[in-house]
Amino acid sequence: MYLYTAQAMREADQRAVAMGYPSLLLMEAAGKQAASRLLQRFEGRAVDVLCGKGNNGGDGLVAARWLAHWGHPVRVYAAEGQTGDAAVARQALLAHGLEIAPLSAWEPAPHSVVLDALFGTGLRGPLEGFYAALVEKVNQSGLPVVAVDLPSGLPHRPHIQADLTVALAGLKNEHLFYPHRAACGRIVLESIGMPPRALHNPHLPEVLCKTSMRPLLPARPGNAHKGLVGRVLVAGGYRSYTGAPSLAALGAYRTGAGLVTVAYPADCVVNPPLEAVRLPLLEWNHADLQAVRAEAVAVGMGAAAGGVRAALAALELGKPTVLDADALHKQVLSAYVKAGLPTVLTPHPGEASRLLEIPSEQIARAPLEAAQALAERYPGLVVVLKGGPTVLAWQPQEAPLSPPLLAVNSSGNPSMATGGMGDVLSGVVAALLAAGLSAWEAARLGVYLHGLAGDLASKPGLLAHEVAEALPSAMRQLQL
Ligand code: APR
Repeated sequence: MYLYTAQAMREADQRAVAMGYPSLLLMEAAGKQAASRLLQRFEGRAVDVLCGKGNNGGDGLVAARWLAHWGHPVRVYAAEGQTGDAAVARQALLAHGLEIAPLSAWEPAPHSVVLDALFGTGLRGPLEGFYAALVEKVNQSGLPVVAVDLPSGLPHRPHIQADLTVALAGLKNEHLFYPHRAACGRIVLESIGMPPRALHNPHLPEVLCKTSMRPLLPARPGNAHKGLVGRVLVAGGYRSYTGAPSLAALGAYRTGAGLVTVAYPADCVVNPPLEAVRLPLLEWNHADLQAVRAEAVAVGMGAAAGGVRAALAALELGKPTVLDADALHKQVLSAYVKAGLPTVLTPHPGEASRLLEIPSEQIARAPLEAAQALAERYPGLVVVLKGGPTVLAWQPQEAPLSPPLLAVNSSGNPSMATGGMGDVLSGVVAALLAAGLSAWEAARLGVYLHGLAGDLASKPGLLAHEVAEALPSAMRQLQL
């Protein structure tokens, strides 16, 4: 599954048609799916369908016909002047015996629901005049709104504020990135039968979802023992920052690591899970770390001033590594690039801002670009830029001239914005590296699982250890 721009989705439509797939079938499927999704959520309410004159409006006309066909009260308001498939949809609607009123006649009716099919991906520039006023009127009505494909007006202002958005054929940028995502309400993605070859576009960012992540889950062999399924070394902690490495250890164990050892400065009191081995160290040095015999390392969580030394000591182990928090320094990253080890770095926007020397607001506005810039600066290292949504980028060292691979996570929620959540993620990714996944696989699956666990455990006041505790359920759900 990919993340589309409006242009990329238009090209997919064109490819489908060029392959001989009739575009009218796509519109028919789109309208029917939108109608049935609306009914699932708002059964029993009369539906006012607002249709523009483009294909989004055509989807709305199809939806209105099906709603009426299924016996639901429907009123249709549409712009004049449909052409092509949308004109056929209009004709079919009239043949069905429905009437079409002008958009200017729409007035909010109590207990109704609005199906917004004014504009989708074909919008060029902000809405003005009549349409801007109509969108404001819909928003001010307080009625629930279901948007077909995209809330009308996005990505500009004004735009419809939807309760439910039925994304068609693929997710678009607005569905995943804020502030636009907030206008979509709940998002459901519906297939409209577009040929997979038409949707295929490896130049687009991948959307991490259940279907694509499921095959990456490491199988546990029947004769598994703790040394076989992946041993993880967590290296971090400093004075009062003792929770961070413990949470990473918990994340690793709950993702299936066979054995987790926590190395930390001897002068701090770390309380990792009972099942973890403790390794208090007088100083960060590779000989002590080497003795642990781990298949993967997570380093930097709560390490404060010791982060660089811990990361450079860990580098000498020559193992796949997650670099987090206080390990995220330019000299460390350059050394890991040079070593060519499977490495995942997990900055939050503040850390990425320090590494890229750009304001964190710029990173929040364009996270994919920021992740891409980091990946290009540190070829071979997999970048996990944490946020809502978390985005990933990787510039394989063996293909320095091709653009970096990009991915955007679809799981997770704002209740995960609390301390320690990133530490758990480091442990999750390290466990997957220890289980034998490549850095790109471990980072993608780890980010998805961590978000899914956050979704399963979601509640106000969610704590990081509760997300770790939900990881087994997340893995089970992914297995199903
Ligand atoms: N103000 C007013 N009208 C506009 C503006 C604007 N700023 N920008 C574009 N339009 C008009 C165009 O003239 C055209 O009539 O909007 C119409 C196109 O809008 P869409 O229906 O969103 O575009 P289109 O490419 O026809 O359809 C794309 O169709 O595949 C479905 O729902 C899916 O979102 C997708 C949509």
